Amino acid sequence: TVMKDVYGISDLEIDLQQKLKLKRVIVVPGQSEETEEDKKELGRIAAQHLLSILREDDIVAVTGGTTLAAMAEMLQSVKQYPQVLFVPARGGLGENIETQASQVAAECAKKAGAGYRMFHLPDNLGSAAFQSLKEDPYVREMLGLICSCSVVVHGIGRAMEMAVRRNASREVLQQLKNGEAVGEAFGYYFDRQGQIIHQMETMGLRLDNVQQARYVIGLAGGKQKAEAIIGIANAGFLDVLIMDESAAEGVSLLV
Ligand code: BG6
Repeated sequence: TVMKDVYGISDLEIDLQQKLKLKRVIVVPGQSEETEEDKKELGRIAAQHLLSILREDDIVAVTGGTTLAAMAEMLQSVKQYPQVLFVPARGGLGENIETQASQVAAECAKKAGAGYRMFHLPDNLGSAAFQSLKEDPYVREMLGLICSCSVVVHGIGRAMEMAVRRNASREVLQQLKNGEAVGEAFGYYFDRQGQIIHQMETMGLRLDNVQQARYVIGLAGGKQKAEAIIGIANAGFLDVLIMDESAAEGVSLLV
């Protein structure tokens, strides 16, 4: 397991912070891709960290994904946050209902005694429908809230795997391949240097909103996500990267 110093920071964490040029890296013991218990532990530590930085009036944008679902499941708070609002980062990215961002937002909110909004949109809107929906008062209000989020918590995926999971078109798959995309977060695909290769045309969180947020938490587990994690870290918007030990070992081998 990971040895921590008096400040609770391990050598591995310090090493990765320097190599990835991040302010803070948290490594959670375990192999979350192998056991459900380890994934829950990753979720539990992430939830704890989120609560430790949360302020009374934050708007927290969360993505979906199985790792964020584990965070929502493990979130526990004695303190209640009636002024905090949880919102899904995007309107829908073509994913399974249980792990959708709205679900994660609702579950986190209930456990933290906070408020939440759901944002369910069809995934593959035509551009005419897309344009007219943007004028809809409900959609406008949701987009306004998401754009002004102060905290972002997002999962990190492998570019190709996420594109396939979301039924991306052949053209998009080709674009990702040509651009050597490695990682994905909130609908944006990045190469290893952190450059954007593609972004999904769904409504919600934009990269500039993430850059303006007060605090951004990236959360990932599994050795096979190592390259994806490096791409996201290089994109430069993370305040903290929380990952499991196997992801950390994978990253160490590549940087
Ligand atoms: C998605 C997030 O829902 O989850 C992505 O929008 C992320 O940012 C993905 O790439 C990761 O999923 P998982 O299931 O591997 O945690």
